[in-house]
Amino acid sequence: MNFNFTEEQLAVKEAAREFAQSELLPGVIDRDNSQTFPKEEIKKMADLGFLGMMVDPKYNGGGMDTVSYVLAMEEISKVDASCAVVMSVNNSLVCWGLEKYGTEDQKEKYLKRLATGEILGAFCLSEPEAGSDATSQHTTAEDKGDHYLLNGTKNWITNGNSASIYLVMAQTNPEKRHNGINCLIVERGMEGFVVGKKEDKLGIRGSDTHSLMFTDVKVPKENRIGEDGFGFKFAMQVLNGGRIGIASQALGIASGAYELALKYSKERKAFGKEISQHQGISFKLADMATNIDAARLLCIQAAQLKDQGKGFVKAAAMAKLFASKTAMDTTIEAVQVHGGYGFVKEFHVERMMRDAKITQIYEGTSEIQKLVIARELLK
Ligand code: CAA
Repeated sequence: MNFNFTEEQLAVKEAAREFAQSELLPGVIDRDNSQTFPKEEIKKMADLGFLGMMVDPKYNGGGMDTVSYVLAMEEISKVDASCAVVMSVNNSLVCWGLEKYGTEDQKEKYLKRLATGEILGAFCLSEPEAGSDATSQHTTAEDKGDHYLLNGTKNWITNGNSASIYLVMAQTNPEKRHNGINCLIVERGMEGFVVGKKEDKLGIRGSDTHSLMFTDVKVPKENRIGEDGFGFKFAMQVLNGGRIGIASQALGIASGAYELALKYSKERKAFGKEISQHQGISFKLADMATNIDAARLLCIQAAQLKDQGKGFVKAAAMAKLFASKTAMDTTIEAVQVHGGYGFVKEFHVERMMRDAKITQIYEGTSEIQKLVIARELLK
């Protein structure tokens, strides 16, 4: 592993930090309170190139590496984890999947607009009865010759109401089990496609998470990604990379909470000295900093392996497993360091604690990450 970041990578990190502190911080508490999707902020992120960072410039992307993406994700997530998940889903699930497996026509039609952030994408795998057990898709895509007839319901879809393009996994040949699943590109506005209720969430309340309903939606055959039956493999491959994004989000939530706890501990006095001078607090800071560094190393390791074209499935799962636990542990302790102030919204850490939880759930729960890691170890 090489931890000497290039000047370009450091410039991306600095640009993300500057943007997050100046543009995201001012409204983040209000957006969390009112569950407002950060429309203006996402537009600015698009203008800065954060929504299609790794896409080849010939498809309007930034042509950056995964390491730069991790560094940017950490800085954005330190301040606003809701903006970070919009960024993560668009970059690693939608743009990367289309660039890697889409046809030239699909890239021309969809990827070019997704990479600039002109439109957003969503990734639709989860269903009311298919979360961790993702092969048991109930949504169906009946083969009708020149099109598929799509029927079913998807749950907990990030960018559910703000996306224009939806990558929808659906079962075409149930007898083939997971090898019968297809991924279809569904456009907002296709007849029979309805955006369902918005979820009222514990955390990342600025991101819009919805259920989606499909009733006899006619999806042209040319909107299928890959060969017939490739949909589940597509979803798995895409999620492998997505997990680096969510690991970086978790890392950012943890390091953001740590920075606030460190600062507060040097300002707040109790029993005649700064609370950082009490071992009860300084040991918490030591644990936080150690775990955050370890999480960062795992994220960078996974990103470098991906950039080098090497196997990164285990590394990405390890990064997500560890970084999401670090996010949860660190934010709980950051609230504790802040005492009563930590329990009120103004000090940010209670929101970070709520935001941290989802990183142990989406894009594969911690239990699924352990399953993925164990299978890689034992194969
Ligand atoms: N990478 C590549 N291929 C994989 C893979 C991986 N990580 N995991 C499984 N596969 C392949 C297998 O090799 C197998 O292929 P073959 O048919 O060639 O043998 C095929 O997929 C089926 O896999 P399994 O036989 O292992 O199936 P399983 O049911 O035992 O386990 C699972 C599958 C790994 C548990 C999978 O269902 C899974 O990852 N579940 C979690 C789903 C998930 O992450 N959901 C997140 C939703 S998206 C989201 O959260 C986005 C958002 O909004 C932020």
